[in-house]
Amino acid sequence: MVKRLKSEVPTEEAYEATKKKVAGFKAAYATIMYFTDTDIVKQLEHDFPLYADNFATWAEQAQGSAQLNTWVALANNGIGANLQHYNPIIDELVSDAFDIPQNWQLRAQMPFGSIEAPAQDKDYMDRTSQFKVFM
Ligand SMILES: Cc1cc2nc3c(=O)[nH]c(=O)nc-3n(C[C@H](O)[C@H](O)[C@H](O)COP(=O)(O)O)c2cc1C
Repeated sequence: MVKRLKSEVPTEEAYEATKKKVAGFKAAYATIMYFTDTDIVKQLEHDFPLYADNFATWAEQAQGSAQLNTWVALANNGIGANLQHYNPIIDELVSDAFDIPQNWQLRAQMPFGSIEAPAQDKDYMDRTSQFKVFM
């Protein structure tokens, strides 16, 4: 993967940062890869033509649910994780290395392992504009 990413990064410096980041993933306990079975999506589009335009979006929403639930489950067990999206750059590499079915589309990667440092503090945007209650 590191070799494959070389042609994707603009500078040698950026490539060094990429190598360091990927080394961090490699040092993790393991990596969960999330796939969408595109045959299922196509079948649903066929079986429910009225909603056909939505199934690809709903598949992504289901991805988000699966990823977040897994991330929370890991966190609840004191296991650290982060979410990565090297797809589609690494799709062929992954498919060849793990004999992935053609109809499985790689959507995300989640390295997980020991928590080496607490999550940094975060600045959050003003929530009042995001959350509305209609009585
Ligand atoms: C939906 C989502 C997608 C993300 N995609 C990426 C990504 O493609 N590459 C990346 O380096 N971090 C990505 N991140 C951020 C990391 O997973 C993680 O949040 C980050 O390393 C910082 O850790 P923290 O959230 O504990 O502060 C994503 C986070 C979320 C919630």
